[in-house]
Formats: sequence, C-alpha cells, structure tokens
Amino acid sequence: MRDVTVLGIESSCDETAASVVRNGRDMMSSVVLSQIEVHQAFGGVVPEVASRAHTEMMTRVIEQALRDAKTTFSDLDAIAVTYGPGLVGALFVGVTTAKSLALATGLPLIGVHHLAGHMVASALSHGATPPYLVLIASGGHTDLINVLASGEMVRLGKTRDDAAGEAFDKVARAMRLGYPGGPAISEAAKRGDPTRYAFPIAKLPDGPFDFSFSGLKSAVMLVLDKEKRAGKESSIPDLAASFQEAVVQALCAKTEAALLQTGQQTLVLAGGVAANEALRLALRARCDALGVEFVVPPVALCTDNAAMIAAAGYDRYVRGLFDDLTLTGVATASI
Ligand code: KG4
Ligand code: ZN
Repeated sequence: MRDVTVLGIESSCDETAASVVRNGRDMMSSVVLSQIEVHQAFGGVVPEVASRAHTEMMTRVIEQALRDAKTTFSDLDAIAVTYGPGLVGALFVGVTTAKSLALATGLPLIGVHHLAGHMVASALSHGATPPYLVLIASGGHTDLINVLASGEMVRLGKTRDDAAGEAFDKVARAMRLGYPGGPAISEAAKRGDPTRYAFPIAKLPDGPFDFSFSGLKSAVMLVLDKEKRAGKESSIPDLAASFQEAVVQALCAKTEAALLQTGQQTLVLAGGVAANEALRLALRARCDALGVEFVVPPVALCTDNAAMIAAAGYDRYVRGLFDDLTLTGVATASI
C-alpha cells in the first residue's frame, strides 16, 4: 500500500497540538503547546480561557507541525481531529479548524475519540499492535480497555467519580502544591513515607474493574483539616507519598485482575498519569510476576498530543471511516 500521511489536531483540554504522522507509525512532527502557565494562576483549567488560547494558537501550531515535517497540505491524505470527550468549547476550536481545512483542501476529515488516541500512543513508540489490555489514567479518565483488534474494544471498567489525574490535581490543590498536581505530588512523595497514613482503597464489588478516587481524596483532605485544627503542621511529603501509594495500589490491583480475567499477554499504560514513576515501577513488577509484556510510551506521548490522534486517524483511514462537515465537538462520547 502507498504511504498515507495524516495531519492530527488535538484541543480537548489545555494542550494545543498538531502533528504529521506517516502510516500511523512514523512521527514526522509533533508540536504541543501547553497552556499550563495560563491556567496556573487559577489553580486548574478554566474552560473559557482554554478555548481562547486554542483559538489564538491553533493555526500557528498547525503551521509549525507542517514545517517541522517538511510537508504541505498537498502531501497530506487526511485531517484527523479529536471530537471528544473533553471541554466542549476547546474541542470546537480543533474541530472547526479541521473542518475548515478539509473544506478548503478537499482532504478527507476523520473524527477521533480522544481515548482511541491514547490507546495507540504505544504504536508510535513501540510499534505495539493489538491485542492488548490498556490502562488509561489521565486527568479526565481512568479506564481499563480490552483491545481485541484494531477498532474492536471492550471497556471493562472506568472511574465512578474522579479520574486518577483529577484526584492528584485536587489533592495537590488542597496541599497548596499548585497545578498540575501529578508532577508536584510525585516530587513531594520522593521525600515522604508511603506507610505513614493508611488511606482507603475502594473495593466496588459490583464493578470489579471500576475505580473510585473521591473517597481517597476526601480522606486526605480530612487529615489536612484535622491536623490543622489540632495546630499540627502536616507532613506534605508523607501525605503525598501515602496518597500516591493508595492510587498506585488501586490501579495495580484492578489492572492485575483484568489481566488475569482476559488472559491478555500485553499491558499498555497510557494517559498523563503514566508519567508517574511509582505507578510505572509497580505495574512493571506485577507484569513481570505474571509474565506479561509491559509497554509504556515516553512521557511526551502519554500526555495529550496530536501524534496519537493522527495515528488513530490512520487506523480509521485504512478502514474507510470518514466524517462529513456535520462533525462536532462533544463533551462526552462513548468508546
Ligand atoms: O492525559 P493528560 O495529559 O490530559 C488528559 O487527557 O487529562 O493527563 C493530565 C493529567 C493531570 O491530571 C496530571 O496531574 C496528571 O496527568 N499527571 C500525573 C503526573 N504527570 C501528569 N499524575 C501523577 N504523576 C505524574 N508524574
Ligand atoms: Zn488525554
């Protein structure tokens, strides 16, 4: 088959990103403009501010991605864009840009589910192909997905409340560690004792592969509050380490159970929380014990980026799955 070159566009949260990927594997460019600094002053992502920042930067980011790949629109075969889930105003910016470009160039348009993007990030880094089990842990999602073949997947479990990354962000905020919380907590945790506090791990007997992190988040906040009222200064490193340990144990336990039930021989870790070193180490140890291959892309491909969207767009291109100009951004979208 001839080469297929796809431009990917991502704007579901606070990263404005564009990338050119050839044949779903060869990353020719990947530009990610983080808005973190814009949102830090507010302690979290402000949707309206995110949409404005995407609008200001989107065309420049796309131009840069084309330049880095030494590509022009005439070299492209399709335009892939994240349509959801995410912040709807932010998604509109990417989707409207992609539709305008498709209309102007005559290139086919491909709407990509954000999680389908996270799922194929390992194809870009490791050339991984299904079947595999994927754990996606990000600011918006905590999902265990059994990928049987390209485009054929079953969601085994999801979070009932906060996503893992969201819990990191909220707990960090309560500890005044700033935004985003994940990197700040993992840094503080390095100096802390993970056994100092025994935090709860939700069992959820009616959903063996589901997650819940809001009880854990409340437990940490309760300790902070209690110690403050008792006039004690909380040990942030110990709290961070104990909280992180509880998240890691919950993610590992459910993932191990899903590996045992599905018999999958490969585990792929994806999403921004995959940057967490303690989580990587713990999952690798469980996989080693089970004789399962553990695949985790580099951090730049775990956090939001457009290369994963272009790669997932390629998978739809080869299956002839295109969208028309009625494509729109949606806040929630089932996989
Ligand atoms: O996948 P992502 O870039 O965006 C979403 O789709 O949500 O994930 C961002 C999330 C944030 O909640 C951030 O706090 C978390 O990933 N994160 C981490 C770490 N680095 C980023 N969580 C734990 N440990 C980290 N080192
Ligand atoms: Zn994401």
